[in-house]
Amino acid sequence: MTAQLNPRGDVAVLVPAAGAGVRLGPGGPKALRLLGGEPLLVHAVRRVAEAPSVAVIVVAAPAADVDHVRRLLAPVAPVTVVPGGADRQQSVAAALAAVPAGPQIVLVHDAARALTPATLVESVAARVRAGHDAVIPVLPVTDTVKEVSADDVVLGTVDRSVLRAVQTPQGFRRSVLVAAHAAAVDPLTDDAGLVEKSGGTVTCVPGSELALKITRPFDLMLAEHLLSGRVRFDP
Ligand code: CTP
Ligand code: MG
Repeated sequence: MTAQLNPRGDVAVLVPAAGAGVRLGPGGPKALRLLGGEPLLVHAVRRVAEAPSVAVIVVAAPAADVDHVRRLLAPVAPVTVVPGGADRQQSVAAALAAVPAGPQIVLVHDAARALTPATLVESVAARVRAGHDAVIPVLPVTDTVKEVSADDVVLGTVDRSVLRAVQTPQGFRRSVLVAAHAAAVDPLTDDAGLVEKSGGTVTCVPGSELALKITRPFDLMLAEHLLSGRVRFDP
């Protein structure tokens, strides 16, 4: 059954899904690779659509797969599908341009974070609604982190206590995200970085281990395991 979005919701979620998935290895665009028999993008959109505040979902698909992605998502949730761009930032910009008038909170997610729970979507949106311009979900860094030279010599150990690993969805007051993208010069890997560059304040909320980004084959294996239910995982 199609998950209905909330027409009175105040949140639009952009799902960039146009990447090639080079680090995952051969097998086509990453968002269309299977996890538990379904494409990563289907998992990601299904969970976003379960979040009660979400009124609009816009997916940026690989340009050659736009029609295929529309058909794929039709039974999952009402979504708008646009062709993505050459890098993530361009894909986000294309999706942002397709958001209809109405929602004043815009979240930017990754199709590659396929198991992100709807509760994280809600907690990011709630923090934006409470008056923050830009909100990111983060986890503490658990490994020791070192700065190294180009020839692999250690230059120093970074103070881990002040570091955070950043996830998606990242949430923004709509006008702030539109202005940050309009002012963007160099491509960055996340949208909060654009807000930082334009002098805005970015606030952190607790992330979720389930929001792991599926990047390399090991991540896909881990996600398969989490999805299989063979392990019980309550973050
Ligand atoms: N993405 C996108 N358009 C691009 C590049 C990336 O929409 N031109 C999306 C990806 O589909 C993914 C998210 O941005 O959902 C995060 O990017 P990443 O994990 O790097 O995915 P890929 O770019 O597909 O992977 P790789 O870098 O290994 O090729
Ligand atoms: Mg990439």
